[in-house]
Amino acid sequence: MLGNLVVLVLLMCGTSTECTRYDGYVVLRLDVSTDQDVHVLKQIQEVPEVVDFWDFPRDLMVSPSYLEDIKATLKENKIKYVTWIDNVQDLIDTQFNHRNTEYSTDEFNYAVYHTWEEIYQWVLDTAAAYPGLAEAILIMHSYQGKEQYVLKVGSDSATPKEAIWYQGGIHAREWISPATVMWMTNQLLMDYSVDPEVKSMLDQYDIYVLPLLNVDGYNHTWEEDRMWRKTQKPNNGSNCIGTDANRNWDYMWGGEGASAFPCASTYRGDSAHSEPEVKGVATFLELKALEQTFQLFIDFHSYSQYWLTTWGYTLDLTDDHVTQTALASIGCDAIYSVHGTVYTYGTFADHLYIGSGLSQDWGYGTLGSPYSFTVELRDTGEYGFLLPEDQIIPTSEETYAGLKAAITYVMANT
Ligand SMILES: *[C@@H]1O[C@H](CO)[C@@H](O)[C@H](O)[C@H]1NC(C)=O
Ligand SMILES: *[C@@H]1O[C@H](CO)[C@@H](O)[C@H](O)[C@H]1NC(C)=O
Ligand SMILES: [Zn+2]
Repeated sequence: MLGNLVVLVLLMCGTSTECTRYDGYVVLRLDVSTDQDVHVLKQIQEVPEVVDFWDFPRDLMVSPSYLEDIKATLKENKIKYVTWIDNVQDLIDTQFNHRNTEYSTDEFNYAVYHTWEEIYQWVLDTAAAYPGLAEAILIMHSYQGKEQYVLKVGSDSATPKEAIWYQGGIHAREWISPATVMWMTNQLLMDYSVDPEVKSMLDQYDIYVLPLLNVDGYNHTWEEDRMWRKTQKPNNGSNCIGTDANRNWDYMWGGEGASAFPCASTYRGDSAHSEPEVKGVATFLELKALEQTFQLFIDFHSYSQYWLTTWGYTLDLTDDHVTQTALASIGCDAIYSVHGTVYTYGTFADHLYIGSGLSQDWGYGTLGSPYSFTVELRDTGEYGFLLPEDQIIPTSEETYAGLKAAITYVMANT
């Protein structure tokens, strides 16, 4: 598998001339203060060929040909901005900054980004490396027919165990998410025999892990368009491809903060669970939930360094708001303790914006997990989705501390 890497390097977006290029694209950081500003920006957001919100409503990528128009619109509406990233292609070209260092060909290199095929193989290889502690379970096929395995991590037990779910890669361009999920999962497995705390976690819980939910979209970011977010399923009656897999879950699907337009980056899909990748996970988890309670559910995204609690679809608070917030706070503190990286927390709807059809809301509202979160990993926008490889390990280390703190909290409070 690793022998193929030399070939793959030539195909990566950034070095391949086949890929969509982002020369002269800029990211503007907006100073949004009023609801009226947000309203204006929502209208701009519906025109995806012109702009792409990296982080709504703050960070906005604009193509050079529309830059003057967008600046004029912002000025007209008195929305202040600064040029935050002045050439997106430069960051695409430098994201692979760890390729040639610390490279071992016989081991999986956690310090670099991996193709979907390598991630797929990682699940199978990891299961094989830890018999009795890890198992690969085929749960679905993606729209383009790729097999999707979940890695089940936990020791065998005679008594029924409770469960934990975490996933990465639901948004294709957020590469740090699957990279971090793989590192953390491997670390849990390695620590089982040496760290009594981790041992008790894997003895008490079955932890189900899906490192790369949106596998087709992720492949597309490697081979065609680094900034792709959605799935790859075509839409009936539209030339625009793909659905936002994190607006497609069957809990409060179709509400505010999810677009009905197939071309929009937050397109909700033509029905809840229209995407085979979302439906595949939901079906698997609902079946498992008949036997096991999912105490913790985390969907890892990037970027902004937020630990977000339910709800996303409404500003109303859940009945478990106090304990959910306590866990989020402890998670942020644990992350900070490793490399001093500052995370903030709050409900998704309050801290970010209202969004419906979210995985985290489904995790709490449908799956019944009392602790269900969206975690937005590094950074705060310096590189955004194009986080260089030399930050993969530090990001993973601190997130692992956050994950363990979350599991510890759940153990004590459920
Ligand atoms: C990967 O993505 C490219 C670009 O979208 C596509 O042409 C190719 O068929 C995809 N490969 C697989 C295995 O899906
Ligand atoms: C696509 O849309 C048309 C018109 O609304 C409808 O007749 C057709 O059945 C749809 N096809 C699919 C596959 O949903
Ligand atoms: Zn995301």
